[in-house]
Amino acid sequence: KIQAKMELAKNIKEEEKLYRYNGILYPIIMSPEENLKALESLEARPDDVMLVAYPKCGFNWMVAVLRKVMAAASGEKVESKMPPLIEFFGPEMLQLLQQAPSPRFLGTHMHPDNIPPSFKEKKTKMLVIFRNPKDTAVSFYHFSNNNPVLPTALSWDSFYSEFMSGEVPWGSYFDHAVAWEKHINDPNVMTVTYEELKQDLSGGVRQVSEFFGFSLTDSQVQTIAEESTFQAMKESSQDSHGQMGNVFFRKGEIGDWKNHFSQSQSEEMDAAFEKHLAGTQLGAKLKY
Ligand code: A3P
Repeated sequence: KIQAKMELAKNIKEEEKLYRYNGILYPIIMSPEENLKALESLEARPDDVMLVAYPKCGFNWMVAVLRKVMAAASGEKVESKMPPLIEFFGPEMLQLLQQAPSPRFLGTHMHPDNIPPSFKEKKTKMLVIFRNPKDTAVSFYHFSNNNPVLPTALSWDSFYSEFMSGEVPWGSYFDHAVAWEKHINDPNVMTVTYEELKQDLSGGVRQVSEFFGFSLTDSQVQTIAEESTFQAMKESSQDSHGQMGNVFFRKGEIGDWKNHFSQSQSEEMDAAFEKHLAGTQLGAKLKY
């Protein structure tokens, strides 16, 4: 169904690919208004496994890790190749979701204040993944240019300006970061960064599985980490993401921003980082 939507997206005019809902831009083909409206009444469960990430912070990486963790814990096969983004679901799939067995695996790129209220009421555990804003912007730029669902940027400079002003799908990086900082010590929230995962993937796999209450052996953790390196995931990306494999698994590195940012862009981003995240716990984790 997603492949079909991507094909359809090729026929949409560039300037009509995004639309605004509650002040924030979304891709019209994947997250039309009826999807976002229907989300408001999504009934969360306390044992849902919820993954949250601003776009391009490593969502698909953690999707793969969590699917493997859940499969290892239950002894079942890894299932479903669908990205579990609730804003892509729509009313019909949300209906089916109500009957799905627990634990359900769900994800979102939405700002914490726009996540369906039921998740807060049920104190559902949420794993939040973040990445330093410079690499996130670069990754977003390439993704937009290679994904028919999103508009192609006129240039790196123009995309950079849109990113800085929050005029990109799912809104401003810094709005998301500032909002999550307020929840960083909530017992149902765990925050990991792309950079931490790059540094110690098996440690990350262990931590996230413990957070969600899945107990794995050391060798299971090790196997999952080995299968979830960038190299391993890129090799199987044709299978997991079809023709979009190379788009979702592009470079997988820390510091690619140095190949894109001008000196003044870098300084402006540093200043924004200081302004919004200086002295915060999330800021300390995201130092680049
Ligand atoms: P780059 O564009 O910098 O390569 P998301 O899944 O949130 O859209 O994030 C995509 C980014 O995560 C891309 O970054 C992608 O290459 C990177 N990525 C995906 N899987 C990864 C992995 N196993 N290890 C490291 N980076 C990964």
